[in-house]
Amino acid sequence: MTSVGAKGNHFGANGNHVGAKRSYFGANGNLNGASENHFGATGNHFSASGNHFGANGDHFGANKTLVRANGWGQGAAGWPITFRPDPIPDPILSTRHHRAGRLTGHMETPPNTLYYGDNLEILRRYVGDECVDLIYLDPPFNSNADYNVLFAEKDHTEAAAQIMAFGDTWKWDEAAARAFHEAVQSGAGQGGRVPAAMQGFHAMLGESDMLAYLAMMAPRLIELRRVLKPTGSIYLHCDPTASHYLKMLMDAVFGAENFRNEIVWKRTGSHNDAKRFADVKDSIFYYVKSRGAIWNPQHVEHSEHYLKTHYNKKDTAGRIYRLDNIIRSASMGPRPNLSYEYKEFTPKWGWRVKREKLESLDADGRIEWTKSGTPYLVRYLDEQKGAAMPALWDDIPPINSQAQERLGYPTQKPEALLERIINASSNEGDVVLDPFCGCGTAVAVAQKLNRRWIGIDVTHLAINLIKHRLWDAFKVTDAPVEGGPVGYKVVGEPTDLKGAEQLAGEDRFQFQSWALGLVKARTASSDRKGADKGVDGRLFFHDDPDNVAATKQVILQVKSGKVSARDVRDLKGVLDREKAGGAVIGVLMTLEEPTAPMRAEAAGAGIYDSPWGTSHAKVQILTIEGLLNGTERIGMPQTGDLRTFRKAPRAKRDRKRERELFDPADD
Ligand SMILES: C[S@@+](CC[C@H](N)C(=O)[O-])C[C@H]1O[C@@H](n2cnc3c(N)ncnc32)[C@H](O)[C@@H]1O
Repeated sequence: MTSVGAKGNHFGANGNHVGAKRSYFGANGNLNGASENHFGATGNHFSASGNHFGANGDHFGANKTLVRANGWGQGAAGWPITFRPDPIPDPILSTRHHRAGRLTGHMETPPNTLYYGDNLEILRRYVGDECVDLIYLDPPFNSNADYNVLFAEKDHTEAAAQIMAFGDTWKWDEAAARAFHEAVQSGAGQGGRVPAAMQGFHAMLGESDMLAYLAMMAPRLIELRRVLKPTGSIYLHCDPTASHYLKMLMDAVFGAENFRNEIVWKRTGSHNDAKRFADVKDSIFYYVKSRGAIWNPQHVEHSEHYLKTHYNKKDTAGRIYRLDNIIRSASMGPRPNLSYEYKEFTPKWGWRVKREKLESLDADGRIEWTKSGTPYLVRYLDEQKGAAMPALWDDIPPINSQAQERLGYPTQKPEALLERIINASSNEGDVVLDPFCGCGTAVAVAQKLNRRWIGIDVTHLAINLIKHRLWDAFKVTDAPVEGGPVGYKVVGEPTDLKGAEQLAGEDRFQFQSWALGLVKARTASSDRKGADKGVDGRLFFHDDPDNVAATKQVILQVKSGKVSARDVRDLKGVLDREKAGGAVIGVLMTLEEPTAPMRAEAAGAGIYDSPWGTSHAKVQILTIEGLLNGTERIGMPQTGDLRTFRKAPRAKRDRKRERELFDPADD
């Protein structure tokens, strides 16, 4: 494929996109060939008849083995899932055009689902039109730094852990050029505003990393608008790096008339910024899809000053109150049906309520007459909800190192922030979507507030963490093995050897995170100057009744390529090195079947005798296939106290309310 032409040649001085298109991509670089009709054709989806997901999952093409066999995408009842076969280019993650379909039609009550994958692809494949009530997105912003995911150690210190999933996501390169091109082509349904905005960005920013970032965001925002119900709302969380551009893009996609607020969240108390004011805030852009959007007013407590100056009266029972107007002011003008005499008093501009209402207020002791003979309404403080919530949120602290809800995910947002958003713009039973869900704050809060949810993330690390979070807080799982209720589905994880091999071929790190998730281990940090050399993951446990504080470890290595007895010898060496830190068992997880010499080498390591009275091979070899089909598992003391992940605090649940919401109706 021809690479991108010289910088700045794209649109020419007048921004004439169409004219300049050919020279930009070169003679054979007609990138829009396959995608040209993509957005324009949104009205041309397959009809609801036929083309449903078949049991064989044919629609997935190359990815089909990555989808859980029990995924709801496979024709679950009540889901009118249809696909269109036109090729959709993935503008960011691949340069090839994949043949995926797009799901269309309205969906009823989608089950809670966690998707592993690129949200653009997931939205197009799985999420139907107008089926989501509320979207919260907290995309990674345009940072030149690699997107490192940090993870908490068991001692709560942070250790960098190498996930380079987005290292070059926002570089201006051919993939970015494709994304940009698609965004420019995409405007048919948006009144041409998106192409205009993208062209404007191009003129201003040139072919820069920032343009690449905006080109990545544009198609995703368009998809998010598609999936949002007419009564839906969207909250885009960002920082000042790109917030001004993102707001313009949001205006382009959702319409400036649908902008409601820029919420300013004071995310930290102080920040050391040289020669400028401390940068302590994030922005959250709140848009609705239409004027009929769900809105539940939120309140904050009145300030002390307000209480002092306004609520300065006390009745005989000690209740604090203030006097409010019950008669109309000149500026309100007269209203014939509100002009009447009451207790020999006829206000010049009339009353604020009808006679019957006034009489009932008076009977309740809610009308007070001043010495000068003017009537007022009595408002008790204990009946007020507080002040209307402003768009300046300085009452929600960030997740600090001591926060109970802290899971060690570096960009984790506080639950209180999501609670406010979800309460304001959705009702119980509604569907909340977070397409960049990270460690699952929106998902966990949606679960807590009895909303349904959809979470998407492109790292297995995040997906694993969310699984643990949901288990720790709500005791729900995606599989019945834990003994808890199956509360959600996971789509996009390998379910068989072929899928695992495919993932390993695509991305070694993702494979490693996913494989460690199979045994509920956490990823070890790889850049602590060799401290974790030779250790991909760890499991922690306590099995010594005489020394309950002693933390023991299983150390894990994950191998996706060829393996030999040498790997087992290496693992034995690492186990020896890690002995002082409590490592007592080493596990080699391998895609390939182990050879006889490997097994012999492992057997030679001997046995770990637990104070609990159980014995376990010191070096174990487990195959991915055996773990997937349940025939193999780690041999280790089952102490019931696997302190591997930081635990999410157990959430208080209203189980009765949940049953009412999610149980099928009796009739
Ligand atoms: C800023 S974090 C979100 C943190 C989240 N709000 C929380 O409280 O944990 C952004 C997340 O987006 C994910 N991500 C980045 N690009 C993505 C994509 N194309 N599709 C899905 N997830 C993506 C990253 O893996 C990361 O977890």
